[in-house]
Amino acid sequence: MAFLPPWACILVGCFSVALAEVSSLSDLYPPLWMDSPGQFSGYRVENGKYIIDPWVYPERLGMYKILLSQTARYFEKFAPGNEQNLLWGLPLQHGWQYSTGRLADPSQRTDCGYESGNHLCISVDSWWADMNYFLSALPFLAAVDSGIMGISPDQVMLLPPPKIQTRFCLTVATCQSSFPVLMRKWNAFYQHLKLPSSSFEDLLKYLWDAHASTLEDLHKTFDDRLEYYSQPEAYFGKSWSCAVGYIAVVRLPTNLTLTHDFQKSLPPRMLVNGDRAPVISDFTELQNAVLFGLNLLHEVDNSTGSLSLAIWKILMRTQAARKLVLEFLKVILENYNPTLFGND
Ligand SMILES: *[C@@H]1O[C@H](CO)[C@@H](O)[C@H](O)[C@H]1NC(C)=O
Ligand SMILES: *[C@@H]1O[C@H](CO)[C@@H](O)[C@H](O)[C@H]1NC(C)=O
Repeated sequence: MAFLPPWACILVGCFSVALAEVSSLSDLYPPLWMDSPGQFSGYRVENGKYIIDPWVYPERLGMYKILLSQTARYFEKFAPGNEQNLLWGLPLQHGWQYSTGRLADPSQRTDCGYESGNHLCISVDSWWADMNYFLSALPFLAAVDSGIMGISPDQVMLLPPPKIQTRFCLTVATCQSSFPVLMRKWNAFYQHLKLPSSSFEDLLKYLWDAHASTLEDLHKTFDDRLEYYSQPEAYFGKSWSCAVGYIAVVRLPTNLTLTHDFQKSLPPRMLVNGDRAPVISDFTELQNAVLFGLNLLHEVDNSTGSLSLAIWKILMRTQAARKLVLEFLKVILENYNPTLFGND
């Protein structure tokens, strides 16, 4: 490009930067996002009801995709391209579970979820998959109930897993009768989303309240699923769900870029016996440090009987304090990986 005048270089440069940004935005989407149904017409219809099988990865992901597209209009005022949509946190987390093998059958009695077998299958024996069910089905069905999805509550039904069906709810009506408080909290989030007067901070508050309450209510329901895992993986699962309680208090703005960057610090594969953070050789320094920190946080929380969480809530009562913690978190993430925050 040496023969181009300097002003042309600047133009060409600007152009390629803009392109790089556009192409990298879709790089941040969860795996198979483009291949999953983004509207109800992508699903089967029986007796006037859309039938969704949430035990197949692209179908569960499709529920999120509809949710993200139906809520996009409410986030337009905060940033273009749906990038600031706070619901991105949910499908990105599910994508991380998928790509790290956490949705596969941990008992290895079936080929569900394995690369060599039925790789799109989501196993009901996976603790991660069961916990995520309630962070996909409830937000999705509550959105239908709130009226933002454009269908009526009796027009959609989820299929049950092959076993322990009674632990799951499948429709708006049955989820409301089994989990009335949680459904109300998710619905409250959508009601605030619809209000033009809601601030970003308000939305964060309602979203994290619903999210943290969902995990809190369920945190013991699937403990029997943890038996199938190695000790470090089971411990990490517990640590992670505990940590989300603390993250909820800070109200992490789970937009597309931030969630993506944050997830790079989580274990990129299932933990096996002998994995001891912070010295796992195939993990990055940041992944080692974060895993070590999450386990430590869990120990502190457990040994203080969650008094540490109560104190954390008091400390984080003001927006200024929460902002300070988020800034601190960003500095740590950037320090370990200078390409973070939109530059890669
Ligand atoms: C996502 O959130 C982070 C942290 O608040 C912020 O720095 C970033 O600008 C947000 N992204 C968009 C696209 O608004
Ligand atoms: C939590 O605390 C109890 C007793 O205080 C202890 O028996 C248990 O092992 C602890 N669990 C973890 C994961 O540290």
